[in-house]
Amino acid sequence: MRHQSPFLWLLLLLWLPPGLPAAQERGAIASAHPLATEAGHAILAQGGNAFDAAVTVAAVLAVVEPYSSGMGGGGFWLLHRARDGFEVMLDGRERAPLAAHRDLYLDSKGEVVPGLSVNGTLAAGIPGQPAALAHLAARYGRLPLARTLAPAIRLAREGFPVDGHYRRMAEWRLEQLRQWPASKQQFLIDDAVPPLDAVVRQPQLAETLRRMAEQGHDGFYRGPVAERLVAGVRAAGGIWQLPDLAEYRVVEREPVRGEYRGMKSTSAAPPSSGGIVLISMLNQLARFDLDKYPSVQRKHLVVEVMRRAYRDRAEYLGDPDFVDMPVARLIDPDYAAGLTRDIQLDAATPSRYQPAGTGLEGQDTTHYSIIDAEGNRVSATLSINYPFGSCFVVPGTGILLNDEMDDFSARPGAPNVYGLVGGEANAIEPGKRMLSSMTPTFVETDQGVAVLGTPGGSRIISMLLHGILALAEGGGPEAWVSRPRYHHQYLPDVIQFEPGALYTDEQRQLMELGHKLKPLDSGYGNMQALFWNRQDGHLSGASDPRGIGKAVVE
Ligand code: DON
Repeated sequence: MRHQSPFLWLLLLLWLPPGLPAAQERGAIASAHPLATEAGHAILAQGGNAFDAAVTVAAVLAVVEPYSSGMGGGGFWLLHRARDGFEVMLDGRERAPLAAHRDLYLDSKGEVVPGLSVNGTLAAGIPGQPAALAHLAARYGRLPLARTLAPAIRLAREGFPVDGHYRRMAEWRLEQLRQWPASKQQFLIDDAVPPLDAVVRQPQLAETLRRMAEQGHDGFYRGPVAERLVAGVRAAGGIWQLPDLAEYRVVEREPVRGEYRGMKSTSAAPPSSGGIVLISMLNQLARFDLDKYPSVQRKHLVVEVMRRAYRDRAEYLGDPDFVDMPVARLIDPDYAAGLTRDIQLDAATPSRYQPAGTGLEGQDTTHYSIIDAEGNRVSATLSINYPFGSCFVVPGTGILLNDEMDDFSARPGAPNVYGLVGGEANAIEPGKRMLSSMTPTFVETDQGVAVLGTPGGSRIISMLLHGILALAEGGGPEAWVSRPRYHHQYLPDVIQFEPGALYTDEQRQLMELGHKLKPLDSGYGNMQALFWNRQDGHLSGASDPRGIGKAVVE
């Protein structure tokens, strides 16, 4: 069309089949870092689809948000393929090393040794992210890894400017980062947190990424990189062996689904607890006509359904390849009806017992959401667990290892860094995946499709609930990501809340109902959300105002 008139464009738009983004839009990406969002868009512009962009965004985040996720970690990628409606969750979760055992973190008296599952090589599970990205590219993408990893390789080699968030995270983990020469060299300058705008270069990571670009999965899990990983971990007291890496596989899992007020949620399956807990909470809330209650009672009800769903998490959930779980029952609306039977409108239900929680909160992990012009979508939450993971960079690889082993229950009933307790289902076993709270989600409404998720440890799932309740009230992505948050996870038996989430009057009334309150000094979470309005083809997105991310529709 050389002589385009506005009239012709209008005709073209009217002729578009329903269910495709508007012709002028190539896609939408929301991620926790502007450089990742921009790199993802560049790949869409080069003819890549949402799955190619997902490889690029994850790889760039691994470089520019080293405190949140990376090739030394894992995650879950929820995919929707527009061509045939196929949906799947890629499980790239870390596994326990084959030499791990259930008492790995206990001393001779059976007590949990503080820090052992959080800092250093023993804390690290076998990474899944490199395998997941290779799988995503080979099975669903259109472009070679050499193209989709190129932006990350360049940023690792040339460097990126340090921002305030990097500084805060590095400050938090400074003592641990200083323990290891390769970590110091990669992330600190003169043994200190780098100043604002200092350039962080990661040439060894660039080289590892280059090998992955050339050889895919095997570039990481076999050959020189694998050998260096195992040697480096063992030299620093760890228990990895070559078969740990050679045997690592991504698993394709059927997502978990549920319905709330006509909206269909598709979310993370085990070994994430996310989808099950989210759908249980929504099923329970569906028993109440929330609109008819004053706000304080609504919040009381939301807390009570959180309490019940998180109790089931602790009791039943773990790696589906190791434990039998009553998943169908846990997400059944009739079961939810049973759960709500002892909810009282005028009193909090006490949680059964109260172990000592550590009260620490993570501020890392990352989420991104992508929709491309064909309607393919990706919702991905990735993690190395605590800020800067285990703080251990394996010499000669540039790979910062996760400390995801802390997501196992070190001992039944002993809380992890998020105060979460677990039982037998989530005990450590060789090769087992640790239970997660990561909850990448799609929600389909009459009008369109939402793609959303967030980091935030145990609070991830309740943040998704707040986001979906905001969607049910008619809000758009801005409303979902910015809504003030409160959280209850069964144990410890307290409501934590952000400044502004509970009015003074509500706080008083909730305490009168028997709730214990824990006000937080600052906000939490970093939600990245998109909405595709199917009726007009319009894409919109928002990045959580609590973070430094960016949502772009192009
Ligand atoms: O998989 C999980 O549930 C945790 N490792 C996620 C950690 C996290 O979100 C940290 N927080 N902000």
